[in-house]
Amino acid sequence: MDGNGRWALARGLPRLAGHRAGTDNLRRVVEACVEFGVKYLTLYAFSTENWGRPIEEVRGLMRILEDVIDRELKNLHKNGVQIRHIGRLDRIRPSLQRKVHQAVETTKENDRLVLNVAFNYGGRDEIVCAIQRIIADNIPPEKVTVELVNQYLFTAGVPDPDLIIRTSGELRGSNFLIWQGAYAEWYFTPTFWPDFGKEELLEAIWEYSRRNRRFGQVSPPQEK
Ligand code: FPP
Repeated sequence: MDGNGRWALARGLPRLAGHRAGTDNLRRVVEACVEFGVKYLTLYAFSTENWGRPIEEVRGLMRILEDVIDRELKNLHKNGVQIRHIGRLDRIRPSLQRKVHQAVETTKENDRLVLNVAFNYGGRDEIVCAIQRIIADNIPPEKVTVELVNQYLFTAGVPDPDLIIRTSGELRGSNFLIWQGAYAEWYFTPTFWPDFGKEELLEAIWEYSRRNRRFGQVSPPQEK
């Protein structure tokens, strides 16, 4: 969800106004995903590297997540959205931790759309965390397989992403789902996140549907 800061700057507004506008856009995109039958959506809301931003911006982003849970939880639950959190909660203030747990707990039986919120998330941190837990569980080296690692990631039980969309014209992955996205298709757009709407989401999905996914082979592997 990149480009909130530049969206605000272009309008002479503070950066946090861009994050607020980005949050308003979330509702449109989540509703569009439900409408289009998307089953899993992961939002990169705060990375392990974002702690390096000015303290007011970090605090503002924490507050925004809290407000979003307060404002949207009921509606998301009503619409059958299951909320999951990926990342670490340990550096997050206790009141926000409680809200995240409550959102996850309230919606855990829903199955229309699984909404993963990547908050205090980093792909490298996720892999380090998985390795630590594998070692702590005394798993012998020969038992460490791709499938086993999958079970130790924050995304355990969630399929690999088919399509990753990055807004705002940046052409990099920035530590997002680096393991799970090994064979994801990418869609890059210059549109800033607050302006990325339903039509462009549909355009991204259309473009994805025209890609020829070979997963390193000569022709697409047969569906299992
Ligand atoms: C990147 O834009 C955006 C972020 C670091 C935060 C995104 C967060 C939200 C949209 C709101 C919170 C989300 C949830 C799920 C509650 P940027 O600040 O890097 O923009 P710039 O590159 O133009 O400066």
